[in-house]
Amino acid sequence: LLEILVSLPNATYPVQIGAGTLDHLPENLSKYSPASTYAVITDTTVSPYYAERVRKAVSTLAPCHVFVFEAGEVNKTRTTWSDLTDRMLAAGIERDGAVIALGGGVVGDLAGFVAATYHRGIDLIHLPTSLLAMVDSSIGGKTGVDTESGKNLVGAFHQPRLVVADVAMLETLPDRQLAAGLAEAVKHGAIADAAYLEWIDRCRGQILAKRADELAHLVRRSVEIKADIVMADEKEAGRRATLNFGHTVGHGLEAATSFGILHGEAVAVGMVSEARLGEVMGITEPGSAETLLDLLGALGLPHQIPSSCQVADLLESARSDKKNRAGQLRFAPIRRPGESARTATGKWTFEVQPETLLNVLRSQTA
Ligand SMILES: NC(=O)c1ccc[n+]([C@@H]2O[C@H](COP(=O)([O-])OP(=O)(O)OC[C@H]3O[C@@H](n4cnc5c(N)ncnc54)[C@H](O)[C@@H]3O)[C@@H](O)[C@H]2O)c1
Ligand SMILES: [Zn+2]
Repeated sequence: LLEILVSLPNATYPVQIGAGTLDHLPENLSKYSPASTYAVITDTTVSPYYAERVRKAVSTLAPCHVFVFEAGEVNKTRTTWSDLTDRMLAAGIERDGAVIALGGGVVGDLAGFVAATYHRGIDLIHLPTSLLAMVDSSIGGKTGVDTESGKNLVGAFHQPRLVVADVAMLETLPDRQLAAGLAEAVKHGAIADAAYLEWIDRCRGQILAKRADELAHLVRRSVEIKADIVMADEKEAGRRATLNFGHTVGHGLEAATSFGILHGEAVAVGMVSEARLGEVMGITEPGSAETLLDLLGALGLPHQIPSSCQVADLLESARSDKKNRAGQLRFAPIRRPGESARTATGKWTFEVQPETLLNVLRSQTA
């Protein structure tokens, strides 16, 4: 079993990675997050597979309640948050209780926000079950919900006490969801580690076949990269913005398709767009977009903008994204696959001319 320590000024926590890590949950809970009661929060898809197993294991330690909500991004809302917190209050969970988030990124973000706000903040443990949650969303402390105005607009930073990524749980994850998680892993390679990108390419057969060793290595390397960046810049004042590579276009694409495309799929398309944009702007080495496109394609990910999507709408959605101040469109490009780019003054994001992006998007439409 492998353990990576995330060490921040106000929180230090282990990320345990490997097949079978879940078997040691009770001892690790008592070590890293002892509590009077545990509230397992999970969704209707994950619950039938893993909730009873987790409840049984946790119950050997302290009373354990399971709270299930309807799966799906559309339920990552304040309504679900208030429903969950009401149910926890009714169950008598007090300030020395802890929340266990069992599920993908939707569960992690929502349960994390419950933990951040319940009695002004209680302990949080992440048990990520999707690849995306293992390589990305369970690390770094961002929690929150969506509103009518956009994604993740209400939330809080709340770091977990412990993250347990048992790759054996990926056995039940649909292939399309696995590929979506791989998009974020490719992003980690693209911004920070060319050798990791090459490894993903070389081992993609084993990864797609869900071989435990390769999955564990993948999660480990992604967590290391994300943790390094978060440790350098917890509240996104600078370098953490590099994790948004592919996301300026990706978020626009998610909104313009009314979330008809998975987050990871949108990021895959967005990385190709932003690499091309970087090439056109003279920031990114020529050929970088092609390299990423080949790898993403081999992993079963899309790299074209669906013909049903209007590029003008995509651009408009990207401009209204919360990361863009006063309508100014910015992105976090790469220098080449394996390295993020910086401006002459050391900034990690560059301003985009809407016309230039529009041309790139037009040439990328299916
Ligand atoms: N907090 C962060 O830093 C951060 C980073 C990236 C993404 N996110 C958020 O994460 C969310 C996307 O996460 P996601 O892709 O995991 O989505 P998700 O949680 O909706 O999971 C995808 C689907 O797979 C199912 N599932 C999960 N694990 C499974 C398993 N082991 N077996 C079978 N089915 C399983 C889920 O029930 C769901 O239907 C978005 O809301 C995004 O905003 C947050
Ligand atoms: Zn993402």
